[in-house]
Amino acid sequence: MTDALQSAAIKILKTNDRGSYTVPTKGLYPFQWNWDSCLTALGQRHFDPARALTEIETLFAHQWPCGMVPHIIFHARDDGYFPGPDVWDCGRPVPTSGITQPPVAGFALKRLLDSAPELRTQAGPLVVKITAWHRWFHATRDPQGSGLVAIIHPWESGRDNSVDWDIPFERVPTAGVAPYTRRDTQHADPAHRPTKEQYDRYIWLVERFRGLGWQTDRLHDASPFQVVDPGFNAILIRSCLDLAELAEDFGESALAQENRALADTALAALDTLWSEARGQYLCLDRITGALIDSPSSGGLLTAFAPIPSKHAARIAATIDARGTRFRVASHAPDAAGFDAKRYWRGPIWLVVNYMIADGLSRAGEADAAARIIRSSLDLIRNSGFAEYYDPLTGEPLGGTQFTWTAAMVLEFLLREHVA
Ligand code: GLC
Repeated sequence: MTDALQSAAIKILKTNDRGSYTVPTKGLYPFQWNWDSCLTALGQRHFDPARALTEIETLFAHQWPCGMVPHIIFHARDDGYFPGPDVWDCGRPVPTSGITQPPVAGFALKRLLDSAPELRTQAGPLVVKITAWHRWFHATRDPQGSGLVAIIHPWESGRDNSVDWDIPFERVPTAGVAPYTRRDTQHADPAHRPTKEQYDRYIWLVERFRGLGWQTDRLHDASPFQVVDPGFNAILIRSCLDLAELAEDFGESALAQENRALADTALAALDTLWSEARGQYLCLDRITGALIDSPSSGGLLTAFAPIPSKHAARIAATIDARGTRFRVASHAPDAAGFDAKRYWRGPIWLVVNYMIADGLSRAGEADAAARIIRSSLDLIRNSGFAEYYDPLTGEPLGGTQFTWTAAMVLEFLLREHVA
């Protein structure tokens, strides 16, 4: 069974491979996505480490001069996706979007090089490029020096349609958005996708940033949406720490020191987002200064960073208490806004499971991590390699033959410490 799962996962990664980058799935997502690629490399490392490094290198070949790494690279023309390159209009040689995504590259590169030391020399330039991205985050997304960075568009979180964004999103207007045709609802069930009003707001923000010529140092203050997502920050912290270790090995102590300093300040500031009542971290609405009382998986994903062990233990207990048949639901099932089938408002994503399990196991919560991994593999055995899953029934949802789902399965099955 394990062998069959493994070959099925490898087959998906190969089918979605476009040579130097991998598409998340055919149809719905025909380009390269930022955090998908970094996590995909973790799967590829089990059968072709050199190809895994190429995946990350291709992403960073499209880094902007300011340091930002875009969330989508439009390598090839495809009219099946909206908003496409013309809407973003970022003026890049190969078109890209103008916003970013969770910075998991530092973590992914370290994990890849740990198992493929022969690639170290080739990976040197990436250490410099990833540091530039981390530096960009703190310079442009934390202008007041709070230690934590904000996202300025829900899509940056990677948890596109989470309940977390509902309140701050009300501040984003819908008037004046140019007419458009959605493509996502042609590939997936509209009942599982964002509403029309939400989509108008997504596009309003894109038009606002485009109107400012994509000068990334101006966008944060110009955005009516500025949210500090604890999961996003945890990913950045973990990547800074992992990259610091790599930089040290490369003899780049200044880069190591820079990454470590960013992580230390952020870790200290993260404490302000802890909610004892919810047993997890919460998002902060930077415009109002209020915590957003929305118990999503973003505040559980925070375990990916070296948070205090009492908080990791509490997060493990919170996940147990959610009591869904499969774990980890992207929103607490008893909380307002939960929807077992709608995008990021309840369903399970294996990439989130992977990062939570990894963090919990490092924090000494091995049993909690094992329960998440077992549940993830049960989902695959019952429902195949879907984009996401209903946490109550395990029903597969969204795209099929999904790349990063397959990559996570390889990690769950083959990673050294996983039995
Ligand atoms: C959706 C997800 C995002 C992912 C992308 C491609 O937009 O919300 O996290 O990167 O699909 O898989």
